[in-house]
Amino acid sequence: MKKIESSLDCYGLETERSLNYMNEAKKHLPGGVAANIKHFEPYPIVMKEGRGAWLKDVDNHWYVDYLMGYGALALGHAHPKIRHAVADQIFCDGTCLFGTPHQLEVEFAKAIKKHYPSIQKLRYTNSGTEATQLAIRLAQVFTGKNKVAKCEGHYHGGYKEMLYSINPSLDEAGEIDLPLPVPESADVKVDGNEPYILPFNHIEGIEHLIMTHHSDLAAVIIEPIQAGYIMADQTYIDRLRQLTLTYGIVLIFDEVKTGFRSALGGAQEKYEIEPDLTTLGKVIGGGFPIGLVGGKKDILDVSSPSRGADVFEAGEKGQGSAKDILFHSGTYNGHPTILAAGLATINEMEQAYAKVLDITTSLREGIETLAKNIGLPVTTYGAGSIFNVIWKKDCKLKHYRDLQKTNTKMRKELDFALLQAGVYTKPLNRYSLSAAHGKEEVDFTLQAYEKAFHQLKGGARFS
Ligand SMILES: Cc1ncc(COP(=O)(O)O)c(C=O)c1O
Repeated sequence: MKKIESSLDCYGLETERSLNYMNEAKKHLPGGVAANIKHFEPYPIVMKEGRGAWLKDVDNHWYVDYLMGYGALALGHAHPKIRHAVADQIFCDGTCLFGTPHQLEVEFAKAIKKHYPSIQKLRYTNSGTEATQLAIRLAQVFTGKNKVAKCEGHYHGGYKEMLYSINPSLDEAGEIDLPLPVPESADVKVDGNEPYILPFNHIEGIEHLIMTHHSDLAAVIIEPIQAGYIMADQTYIDRLRQLTLTYGIVLIFDEVKTGFRSALGGAQEKYEIEPDLTTLGKVIGGGFPIGLVGGKKDILDVSSPSRGADVFEAGEKGQGSAKDILFHSGTYNGHPTILAAGLATINEMEQAYAKVLDITTSLREGIETLAKNIGLPVTTYGAGSIFNVIWKKDCKLKHYRDLQKTNTKMRKELDFALLQAGVYTKPLNRYSLSAAHGKEEVDFTLQAYEKAFHQLKGGARFS
């Protein structure tokens, strides 16, 4: 009989149809996936059904889902309020695309502004990536400057300007207070167009960089809670706000991950800080693709077509010309079906958020208590309805470099053990909870953890 050395060895025994599907998918899609993030080794599990807090794979195993569409599904899978909102929009309005202004655009904007007082005006996009891209363009036009600074270890979407120093090797990353830009994609180089890289939670580091480069620095973009679970020190975020105001630099809070998760009003509510621009995505679409940029009206208005002409306007122009306005467009921006789904989500979250926080706390406490009792160096880190499971003794996480010191090998073993026990997140990923998670899911998850912890502690691995 084959000796099973690790939880990974068992994986293939349980997920044969996923493997077969992925082999087929590789003939049609690069790497077999529609987005690089969906890939993991040896092959991802292929899902075919989602209900509430649960996902079912093609081998007919059910899992409690903690990936929740990378945090997008704040109400869980197939929430009835979202299904009805989507159906009502299409049946009552008769179309799912007006191609003109429509009333939900303003209704939705008001719902956002209620929770994000820093937002005076906003623009819709189709993803978080597009939102951060637009925020940077707005900042560049508004300030007349060109360079952008981002933090080491932070992700803002998959495009050239931002694909630097997300997960750099420490050999290439430079000094802790003066990180180097490290390319993260084959089309990206250090050629003068790269962003400045700021150290997260390092005040002297940002002071030095911003004071040195403020004259060409249009924007600082930051995940105000790194990856949704590592908080900034209040002194750091206050100093960042002060410096950007002093030097006329647009401060962009990328709250695509943290919006309606770290608090209903995002990280800015927690820190009591008003950024100049905020980007949102994920939760606000209720599982459908969306993003938005909101903030100071003077900045947003640089994209206002009523100021003059636009790219497609033939013949007679207004008082301006195309090059005076930031051109931003999209056939699907402000899509009515998506806004209906998003509005239903925001309305429901206003009722459900406290419960989601309680259930997140009980899961985190349960995991930490089990780890302590069984004697494993495991803890959780998080904010609001997102947390991560960290395998490291006496863990104090302040930034990306601390994460490099954690035991990701054991965390991965744990993840695969949990997959086999019916608890899903992509290996090494964070946990995002939803209004659909309740006591039943937490009890189920903690039982799986108890079994996995004992097996990993005993070195017995899975059989
Ligand atoms: C903080 C942050 N910004 C931007 C993005 C990109 O959003 P999207 O995947 O919707 O393009 C993500 C996605 O995970 C994110 O976490």
